[in-house]
Amino acid sequence: MLIPVADAPELDEEASTVFAEGWPEFIFHDAVAKQYAERRDRYFADWNFYYVAEPPAASPRAGSPALAAAPPAAQPRLIAGCWGVPLAWDGSIPDLPGGYTDALARSVTSYESGIQPNTFVLMAAAVRADQQGQGTAAALITAVRDRAVAHGLTQVIAPLRPTLKTRYPLTDIATYQTWTRPDGLPLDPWLRTHVRLGATILAPAPTSQTITGSVADWEKWTGMPFPSDGTYTIPAGLSTLTITNGVGTYTEPNIWVRHA
Ligand SMILES: CC(C)(COP(=O)(O)OP(=O)(O)OC[C@H]1O[C@@H](n2cnc3c(N)ncnc32)[C@H](O)[C@@H]1OP(=O)(O)O)[C@@H](O)C(=O)NCCC(=O)NCCS
Repeated sequence: MLIPVADAPELDEEASTVFAEGWPEFIFHDAVAKQYAERRDRYFADWNFYYVAEPPAASPRAGSPALAAAPPAAQPRLIAGCWGVPLAWDGSIPDLPGGYTDALARSVTSYESGIQPNTFVLMAAAVRADQQGQGTAAALITAVRDRAVAHGLTQVIAPLRPTLKTRYPLTDIATYQTWTRPDGLPLDPWLRTHVRLGATILAPAPTSQTITGSVADWEKWTGMPFPSDGTYTIPAGLSTLTITNGVGTYTEPNIWVRHA
């Protein structure tokens, strides 16, 4: 069941631990995205969700008086979470945001300009580690997509972070998004989940996010030393990190998809 984050503050602490594990530390250091984060939280709090399983029905303990033995009310179990933003998009490839950061910026500035949104952008989704691979993401995406449409956001798009791309950091994203398995479905598992739900691949987003930091920053974020300038593959990187004159720059490629 999808519930707005604002309705379940008791799950916040657990969520911050459980979901942070799904992403590499460097992804949280996109300086441009940070400029919009606080306003995004304020303007679009309704588009921030937890996905929970209903608690099991409590059964009375045998032999004990019903009321005295009643167990404390069980909390719903946190399974997954996702968030997104509304914006105006004309449905064409040229009008797509450049990627994650640009979608965030456009949603905030459009809101401030009073532009009516018609599109929901699913920005991120995470399933707790012990629940992955069981189809939870499909249920989550379906629920949020239906909610967007019910609120008049009739187009649903997402700049996907393709999970298997970490194994192919040297491959161009435009090439990667064309790779399929023998059954015709995308090679990438996360892309596959969306395509199975009826999504179409729109376009690569080669510069979805840009993350810049000093060598010391990158050493902290990745746990790797970078003894000299150069180009490096990094843990959980979808592309490479380039260090020039002691400054490291990583550009995150994503893939735009559109849900039916
Ligand atoms: C990506 C993510 C949301 C998918 O959620 P999920 O509920 O596991 O998705 P599904 O059960 O539909 O699995 C999708 C595919 O990935 C595979 N998969 C999922 N978790 C896996 C794991 N831990 N190891 C190997 N494969 C896995 C599934 O087998 C499935 O492949 P299939 O098409 O062959 O069946 C989840 O793995 C996650 O939270 N990852 C960390 C955060 C992240 O990367 N989010 C996406 C970017 S926003």
